[in-house]
Amino acid sequence: MTKKIVTLSGDGIGPEIINAGLQVLSAVAEKIGFDYELDAKDFGGAAIDKFGVPLPDETLEAARNADAILHAAIGDPKFDGAEIRPEQGLLKIRKELGLFANVRPLKIYEPLKHLSPIKNVENVDFVTIRELTGGVYFGEHTLEADKARDINDYTRIEIERVVRFAFETAQKRPRKQVTSVDKQNVLATSKLWRKTVDEVAKDYPDVTYEHQLVDSCAMLLITNPQKFDVIVTENLFGDILTDEASSLAGTLGCSASSSHGAGTAFYEPIHGSAPDIAGKGIANPVSMILSVAMMLRESFELENGAVLIERAVEKTLADGIFTQDLGGSATTDEMDKGDFGAVVK
Ligand code: NAD
Ligand code: IPM
Ligand code: MN
Repeated sequence: MTKKIVTLSGDGIGPEIINAGLQVLSAVAEKIGFDYELDAKDFGGAAIDKFGVPLPDETLEAARNADAILHAAIGDPKFDGAEIRPEQGLLKIRKELGLFANVRPLKIYEPLKHLSPIKNVENVDFVTIRELTGGVYFGEHTLEADKARDINDYTRIEIERVVRFAFETAQKRPRKQVTSVDKQNVLATSKLWRKTVDEVAKDYPDVTYEHQLVDSCAMLLITNPQKFDVIVTENLFGDILTDEASSLAGTLGCSASSSHGAGTAFYEPIHGSAPDIAGKGIANPVSMILSVAMMLRESFELENGAVLIERAVEKTLADGIFTQDLGGSATTDEMDKGDFGAVVK
């Protein structure tokens, strides 16, 4: 059966990198016989310009009815200070589709090791499960002239389901370890988080787990990243820690993610629209290409297709085809075509 994939190219480097991802998808689909159709929809700042809202109803409807969603990036400095912003569309689609678990793997590539700010990145291999539809992102926000407030709430069920997702992720990994990250020495939401983790953990006796406060976790990511296997944490901490973690790999430009929950799974790089390099054709497409690999594996159970793409990324990097963020001068197109064609086809 033909699979329906909704594509959201968004803003800034979004259209440039999604193009690269779709070329790789096309090549691998031909090779493994994957039958799909694409449905490109307006989203983010581009949708505000056309329709006045970042997530038009038609886009949400198509996303609901699709088999998977590929999103590149949204955000544009021209909306800074505006009431209607591209980011609201991203939060809304995550919430509407009930995508509570955001999976952000970190992989260090041998040819990029020298780009890491950390001296020793041998054996660093962990995944962060970020809660994605709760917390301060979705609490009430009020801004007055001299006063502002953001409400952070979590219910037990919101915590429990993402923690279960993390323990189940750990069960499939060789080390079977979970680190739950909170700020229970200050926050009530974190106290509930920690208590829930202790209860849920009883159902997974084959998984070892520990608690870590978020400030020391931020430190350990730099001083001892080898210690982590599966990290699970709330929305805001997960956002911050995963950008930090990506720097261990030497760039934000290679970090992909998937989001799962009630509705259609959503695949996207963890970085944003990179307005500083948009329109120049020099963005690193690897984050998007690896998001395509995650989609093949997690939504379509096409492990062979995912592995082909991951090998192509490895070969391209081993051949020294580097965009600017990797210390080279390859364009997005050169990175995409070069060795991807050879390995994937
Ligand atoms: P950013 O992630 O867009 O960029 C941070 C830095 O990393 C920039 O120097 C950028 O050039 C570089 N970078 C990011 N991706 C790259 C790639 N693929 N190749 C090469 N370099 C890359 O973060 P920012 O500049 O703080 O935010 C810009 C906009 O993106 C904001 O509007 C923000 O809200 C939005 N944003 C969107 C998403 C998303 O769509 N999921 C995620 C994060 C930020
Ligand atoms: C991300 C982004 C978003 C977030 C922004 C754009 C709302 O930073 O996907 O990591 O904070 O979730
Ligand atoms: Mn982020």
